[in-house]
Amino acid sequence: MNLDYCNIEDLRQLAKKRLPRGIFEYIDGAAEDGIAKQHNADVYRSLKIKNRVLLNVSKRSTAIEIFGKKLAMPYGISPTASAGLMSDGGEVALAKAAARMGVPCTVATNSLTPMEEIYAAAGGNLWFQLYMWVDKDLRMAFVDRIKSVGFDTLLVTVDGSVGANREHDRKNGFSMPLQYTPRLIAQVLANPGWCLRVLAPQYLRRGAFRKANYPPELSSRLTDKIVDHELTKTDTQCWDDIKRIRDVWPGKLLVKGLQSLEDAVIAADHGLDGVVLSNHGGRYLDCAPAPLQLVPEVRRAVGNRLKIIIDSGARRGSDLVKAMAVGADMVMSGRPTLYGSAAAGEAGAYRALVVFQTEMDRIMAQLGLNSVEEITPHIFWNPPDWVPKPRA
Ligand code: FNR
Ligand code: LAC
Repeated sequence: MNLDYCNIEDLRQLAKKRLPRGIFEYIDGAAEDGIAKQHNADVYRSLKIKNRVLLNVSKRSTAIEIFGKKLAMPYGISPTASAGLMSDGGEVALAKAAARMGVPCTVATNSLTPMEEIYAAAGGNLWFQLYMWVDKDLRMAFVDRIKSVGFDTLLVTVDGSVGANREHDRKNGFSMPLQYTPRLIAQVLANPGWCLRVLAPQYLRRGAFRKANYPPELSSRLTDKIVDHELTKTDTQCWDDIKRIRDVWPGKLLVKGLQSLEDAVIAADHGLDGVVLSNHGGRYLDCAPAPLQLVPEVRRAVGNRLKIIIDSGARRGSDLVKAMAVGADMVMSGRPTLYGSAAAGEAGAYRALVVFQTEMDRIMAQLGLNSVEEITPHIFWNPPDWVPKPRA
């Protein structure tokens, strides 16, 4: 794709032009006043890192190994519902871009393409994200299905037990399944390019957009009268539910959406393999801390019992370096590759990944670092108190 799209913000601007307004705001927006979303970015930006000079960095590598697999960089694509609205076959585009880069991509429960199709089309290191539906039998049958498709890493998202307060979606009349309200129709007609690129191929090949992984028992009950989250999200979910999944899931199991060290300790006690510290990109709890800030205290509490992955707010390769320096094992993000996919399908999503990787590589050279293991708190200049002290 056009190399003028130099960074994630460029891809975001192009996505904004190419998507109907309500759909762009659904991916770009956040809960309530957008405080957590802004804070996620501010915390990354506030940390200053010092260059080191006259060190031979010609053999540097951004690669890491996690869960027995080698990754091109400590980065993975977070699960995002409705990625299929970004480009034709949007979920496959994300997964293929990730496979090409050599990083994991997480398929969402709420994807608009069936998990089997994504798995068959893309290959690579695919993880799966689970929302624990209210009906426990359907939920456990779904876990069996995920296993039989071949996924070996499961992320259970636990921060969406009640619906989010996203006022922009309400004002735009945006919901999934898409309701063709007069406002949405006007926005869609104002963007004929999206209709031709995404909407028309969808209707020609598959019919209306729908949550393609839902079993018929569940999707047939998703009507206008029943609010989606009454069936698909549950405020009764608890650690016993995680235990039941741990008992049957043979692969790596993580929970996503934690913000406290207490919860991370419980996750370790339940034999989980990792946690994804996340405020959902600011899409649920608006006054949440930035996951980056939580890493040191969680690391002190759980040591190496768990892998600590963070998402929410990473937009530059320097952000990946900063996250590794405060003690994270890996970083994920959702929006950057969605922007890329909206901008130019698979090529655009891949471009977002290339941006992260080349920026990270350049920053490592500037800091005098040859491997990800060498990224430690000594890289910071005048860090705030929550950053761990460098070892003497
Ligand atoms: C999400 N996220 C998300 N998370 C999840 O566990 N299941 C889901 O279905 C979704 N859906 C979803 C849709 C869209 C459009 C976005 C932007 C995000 C949250 C996602 O996994 C991740 O936590 C955030 O995207 C992280 O923030 P950044 O990196 O996008 O700032
Ligand atoms: C979101 C939900 C689906 O963030 O997790 O939109």
